[in-house]
Formats: sequence, structure tokens, C-alpha cells
Amino acid sequence: MKALVLSGGKGTRLRPLTYTMTKQLVPVANRPILHYAMDQIRSAGIKDVGVIIAPETGEQVKESLASNPWNFNLEFIPQDAPRGLAHAVKIAQEFLGEDPFLMYLGDNLIGESIVPFVRDFEDGGSDAMILLKEVEDPRMFGVAEVDESGNVRRLIEKPKDPPSNLALVGVYLFSPEIHDAVSEIKPSWRGELEITDAIQRLLDKGLRVKSYILRRWWLDTGKKDDLLEANRVVLDELVDKDIRGEIDGRSRVVGRVSLAKGAYVIESTVRGPAVIGEGSVIKGSFIGPYTSIGRGCVVESSAIEHSVVLDGVVIRNIDRLEDSVVGRNTVVSRERMNSQALRLMIGDDAEVRF
Ligand code: G1P
Repeated sequence: MKALVLSGGKGTRLRPLTYTMTKQLVPVANRPILHYAMDQIRSAGIKDVGVIIAPETGEQVKESLASNPWNFNLEFIPQDAPRGLAHAVKIAQEFLGEDPFLMYLGDNLIGESIVPFVRDFEDGGSDAMILLKEVEDPRMFGVAEVDESGNVRRLIEKPKDPPSNLALVGVYLFSPEIHDAVSEIKPSWRGELEITDAIQRLLDKGLRVKSYILRRWWLDTGKKDDLLEANRVVLDELVDKDIRGEIDGRSRVVGRVSLAKGAYVIESTVRGPAVIGEGSVIKGSFIGPYTSIGRGCVVESSAIEHSVVLDGVVIRNIDRLEDSVVGRNTVVSRERMNSQALRLMIGDDAEVRF
């Protein structure tokens, strides 16, 4: 079995971060979201992985996977524009050949191993298998109607009037039958070749599509609050105490805190779950639960909680920063403690709330 990972697309909902960084590389607990997808693929025992990349961000994706700790045979497949998930399958056809494959959207994060789902598919009996999750508002997803045994009856992409609350999570298994189905569909109203339509095509031909309902969390890290929530859940579940950096005698580091090598905690309190990246310096500050501080940051005389701070950020004299996402190389500082004036140099689509 092969894997096809989608790491193209535009990521408009996470602007401004995604002006310079593809959404799959936005970090959760200091690791790119895409790396969690790769961990899942590795745990399913898959070796051959095709990665769909976009012209604007392809190089970043290649760089991020370059060290390849998973030992994959990686093949990068460029997609000229976001023409849809089924289009991605089409351009990957040469790589996929006649093999069954796992398709994984690189910006999805799920709290459950995909191994049982993959094994079930390998045992045979279906031409496609989809992962579903009950959601409150399914209208912004692909939606499935299933029978009592989990067989899929019907699928619709972003329905106005959803037939169920079961959304398609971006993880799919396909037999090579999908290629014919992909060649038979037309672009949707949004101008994309939808994988949902291709799977519906399999059903129309009388082929069997099974489903598997995810019991634990699924985070579609599309917006700021989703990203903070993903960070919270991953810190809670996956981060263990791991101190490789240095802590001075006047600091307290409590709970599950991962402090990377070359990081310093000076006269500060860090309360986990939290991660602090390589080379970052925390001085005279409080880092509260559910916070990720990237690499090479400086946090001085500040308190931060429930936030995601990317690499190279400086935060100084900020009494309390919470529920925030701070992009790379940003400076957030109060120059004079008694000054009420704000002095900003902020890029497009930023959000500043006081
Ligand atoms: C895509 C799929 C949709 C699925 C969703 C999951 O939507 O088309 O069926 O539910 O991913 O993230 P898109 O992100 O392209 O809007």
C-alpha cells in the first residue's frame, strides 16, 4: 500500500500566517501539523509516500520533510493550482500505479491511530473506506449517509441541507478503482474535482464503500481557535516532561514541560503542559499551561498562557498574553510601562485585540 499526502492548497483561513507558510507546516506543540500525518502513515507500515505540493510552498514542504525520520521513499508531485482532491489523485496516478493507497490531507490532525482502519481495508471487501466524524455543523464538509453496518449510501460535498452530521475527515483508503471514477467526474461549483464526487461515482457503479467513525478528536486546523485547540489537545496528550535545556536555581518548571536543548529558563515559572523550542530564552516570566514557544524566541518580564508563539519572536513587558497566535519573528513589547500609546507595524490581515 502507498500513501498520498496532500500538502498544497492556500489556507486562507489562517492568514496572515499562511501568507508565508503553508498551512500544513503551521506548528502544533512545536511540530508541523504535516509531521503528525507522517507519523500516522509510518505507524501503518507504509513506505512509499507521494506528497502533493503547490508551486508557492512546495520548497518549504520539501525542506520540512528533508530529514525524513520516517525513512519513507518520498516522491513530490507538483500541482499547478488547487484544482481539488480528485485532481491530486489524477496527477499522482503514475506514482500510485495499481496499488491501493491511503490518502491523507496534511492539515488534518486526529486523536486516534489509523492502523485499525487501514488493516480493516487491507482485509478486503470494499473499494474505498472513509473516515467520518460527527460534527455540529456539517455544511462546510463532505457529508456521508451510512447504513447500520457502516456501508456508505450517499455522499455530498458541502451540502446546504446535510443528510447526517457525519463529516468526511480527510483520511481515505482507495483501491485502484478510484482512478476510473476520478476520470469520470466533472469539476464542482467551486471549480474543483471533488474526491467526494469520485467516491459517489464508485457507489453509483455498485461498488462498496465502507466507513469508520472516529471516536476521539479530529481537528481541522483551519482557523486561529482551531489551532489553539489543536495545540491544547496535543500538549495535553502527547507531551511528556523532557528537560534538555537549562533552568536556573530561581526558576520553577512544573508539570509536563518539554524544554529543548539550548533553551534557558531564568528567574521564571513554566507550568506545563508546555513546550519551549531550541535556543529560546525565558527570563523573569511566567509561561502558563497550553503554551508552545518556538525556536529562538525571547520572552522577558511577561506572562503567556494558552498561546502558540512561532520561531524568532520577542515578547517583552507584556503583563498577560493569552489565546494568541504570534507569527514568526514578531516583536510584541511594551517599551515604557506607563505608556498608553500603541506603536504598531503589522502585516496584512493581522488581528490586534486589547
Ligand atoms: C475537504 C473535502 C471535504 C472534507 C474536508 C476535511 O474540504 O473536500 O469533503 O470534509 O476536506 O477537512 P476542503 O478543505 O477542500 O474545503
